[in-house]
Amino acid sequence: MTDAPVVLVACPDGPILVRGEVEIRDADGAVVPRRRSTVALCRCGASAIKPFCDGSHKAIGFRTDDEGSRPPEPLT
Ligand code: FES
Repeated sequence: MTDAPVVLVACPDGPILVRGEVEIRDADGAVVPRRRSTVALCRCGASAIKPFCDGSHKAIGFRTDDEGSRPPEPLT
């Protein structure tokens, strides 16, 4: 265990990246084993390996509603 902070990054139109040592549990409270210090958690609901992202968000055209956090479109 380290004292490094846990960092969550919401990827536009994709998963939430979790960096750092944090315990992940499923809906029943069971600890979900992880092999990496950075993991991607599915937030589109289409992953076949939930709670982790398997890239299915791209195939289903998942879009997040975080337009406010994106840089503005250039004016034409
Ligand atoms: S966010 Fe990637 S499969 Fe759901």
